[in-house]
Amino acid sequence: MKNIVVIGVGYVGLPMAAGFADFGNRVMCVDVNEDRIAGLKNGIMPIYEPGLEELTRRNVAAGRLIFTTSYEDALNGKDAPAEYVFIAVGTPEGVDGEADLRYVRAVAETIAVTMDHPLIIINKSTVPVGTGDWVSDIVRSKQPKPIPFSVVSNPEFLREGAAVTDFMYPDRVVLGSLDENAAQKVAQLYLPLRAPLIITDLRTAEMIKYASNAFLATKISFINEIANICEALGADVKEVAAGMGYDKRIGRAFLDAGLGYGGSCFPKDVKALSHMANIQGKHPQLLEAVMQINADARRSIVSKVRDLVCANDKRTSGRLNRLEGKVIGVLGLAFKANTDDMRESQPVDIIRMLQADGATIKAYDPVAMENAGRLLKNVTLCEDSYELADGCDAIVIGTEWNEFKNLDLVKLKKAMRHPIIVDGRNLYDPTKMRELGFTYRGVGRGYV
Ligand code: UDX
Repeated sequence: MKNIVVIGVGYVGLPMAAGFADFGNRVMCVDVNEDRIAGLKNGIMPIYEPGLEELTRRNVAAGRLIFTTSYEDALNGKDAPAEYVFIAVGTPEGVDGEADLRYVRAVAETIAVTMDHPLIIINKSTVPVGTGDWVSDIVRSKQPKPIPFSVVSNPEFLREGAAVTDFMYPDRVVLGSLDENAAQKVAQLYLPLRAPLIITDLRTAEMIKYASNAFLATKISFINEIANICEALGADVKEVAAGMGYDKRIGRAFLDAGLGYGGSCFPKDVKALSHMANIQGKHPQLLEAVMQINADARRSIVSKVRDLVCANDKRTSGRLNRLEGKVIGVLGLAFKANTDDMRESQPVDIIRMLQADGATIKAYDPVAMENAGRLLKNVTLCEDSYELADGCDAIVIGTEWNEFKNLDLVKLKKAMRHPIIVDGRNLYDPTKMRELGFTYRGVGRGYV
């Protein structure tokens, strides 16, 4: 059993803390957000993540998972002084795509002034290459008296909506440090997972995270570019992706064409990597193209809606607000299924563009309604897909929730004013949709 502290109980910190507790460790979670900590003490999850509530409850009940707002209690508890401190706070996007490190800095400073014994400080937050050294400098300079510590970079690769499974079954664990001994000690925490382990230096570990996310984002933009070409040439991108994916060198994962990537990681990380490269005088052309293609994927959905909804409406041609008087329903508001996270949500962006074109918007999401409600203005939030369909001139599929794959499409069609569906997630079969009487457009689904 080890004594672990996790700072920040968000999408990264909480699944990891509950996971380490489940291996029998004692894990203290610290967050400055008093409401979050009070909620967690009462069993209220601050985020929606499948399996997390059960895992958290089980380990709280066993006394292995403890929540506090006090660094002093967490780090220097008399019975169980911490050996490991994980920093898992947010690194939002700052100016020019540069990561905003104010929370990491605040945590490093507080650790420095609070610690009363040697510690291993592990950075989980996605931070620019070189931040590990910077954290070391902060801790060293803020300590009232010198106490030994080591900094290890341990980038996280958890996907939202699958964070618990990803923690339990990682493809690899990456550890970077100038202190090999400290990295080996952190490796011990992960032994129960039997995952491949990469131990390297700090900067390389930090770079592995950025390079991995940038590569996956590149795969997505690549297939969206192919989708675009498929539309022009009459091929079906879903089958193209399947055909490519059998090649082991390529792989099928992350070849789903659609709205492009959203969420808290890819948009921010690709931008940050590009920014780091620019600062060093490099010209990251591929990353720039990846970002441009990603932005276009959202715009292309809006064009499809406009073209189909206004196709037989001569009054609107040449007008600026072509969608004025039209009701568009958006099914799915989260940036992907199985999460209520609205950060960089593609459907939200699309809603704003449709509104700018004069459309009246109705929206529904199975889980993200509460978060979406805070973000969206002048949108009618509906109870379900059928209420949303009522009176719609078109529906946009924004998120690939399972619930939308099994809709009663006949019922949906009856409720709509015009049976137009623009499917940003390629959930349906174009031929079947046409047979049902819909005007249907997916992404890259070969109509010429
Ligand atoms: C990602 C990384 O996968 C994870 O390793 C890292 O730790 C954090 O960033 P996440 O943002 O939770 O995880 O979601 P992910 O499942 O990777 O999807 C990201 C975005 O890409 C979503 O908007 C998704 O809809 C989109 N996507 C994904 C596609 O458009 N096509 C695909 O084929 C796959």
